[in-house]
Amino acid sequence: MERTFLAIKPDGVQRGLVGEIIRRFETKGFTLVGLKFLQVSKELAEQHYDVHRERPFFPSLVEFITSGPVVAMVWEGDGVIASARKIIGATNPLTAEPGTIRGDFGINIGRNLIHGSDAPETAQKEVSLWFTDAELVSWQPHLTPWLHE
Ligand code: RTP
Ligand code: MG
Repeated sequence: MERTFLAIKPDGVQRGLVGEIIRRFETKGFTLVGLKFLQVSKELAEQHYDVHRERPFFPSLVEFITSGPVVAMVWEGDGVIASARKIIGATNPLTAEPGTIRGDFGINIGRNLIHGSDAPETAQKEVSLWFTDAELVSWQPHLTPWLHE
C-alpha cells in the first residue's frame, strides 16, 4: 500500500491549524499510520531539505523548519502521494487554488504550512528519515468497505 510523508510546519502549528489540516486527510479517507510532534534538529532539517542544498533559500528553509515544533505524519492509501499534493496545493499559497490547504490558509511561499512528499522515491526516503519501522502502525480501518468498492 502506498505511503507518503507529510509534516505540518511550525507556522501550521503556531496558527492552531493542526486539527484542521489533519481533518482534511482523515475525512478524505486516507489512513494515518504514523504521527509525532517534535522539535526538528538542524541535522534532520538539512537531510530533509538535502535536494535544496544549493538553492539560495536553503539556510532559511532549515532555520524555519527548526524554529518551532512540527507534526510529522505518515499517511497510507492508493494514490496518496499525488492526492496529498493536490490537497496541499501549489508551493506558493498566493497561487494555490482555494480549497487546498495552502490556498485556504496561506499568503507567502516561506510560510506554506505543510510539506508533502512529491514522488514515490522521495516518499520512501522521507518516511524512513523521519520514522523508524517500530513507529509505524499497520492497521485495517473498519471504514475500509465504505471507502473501497
Ligand atoms: P514542500 O517540499 O515543503 O512540500 O514544498 P514543495 O514541494 O511544494 O516545494 P519545494 O520546491 O520542494 O520547496 C520546498 C520549500 O522551499 C520553500 N521555497 N521557497 N523562495 C523560493 O523561491 C522558494 N521556493 C521554495 C517553500 O517553503 C517550499 O515549501
Ligand atoms: Mg518539495
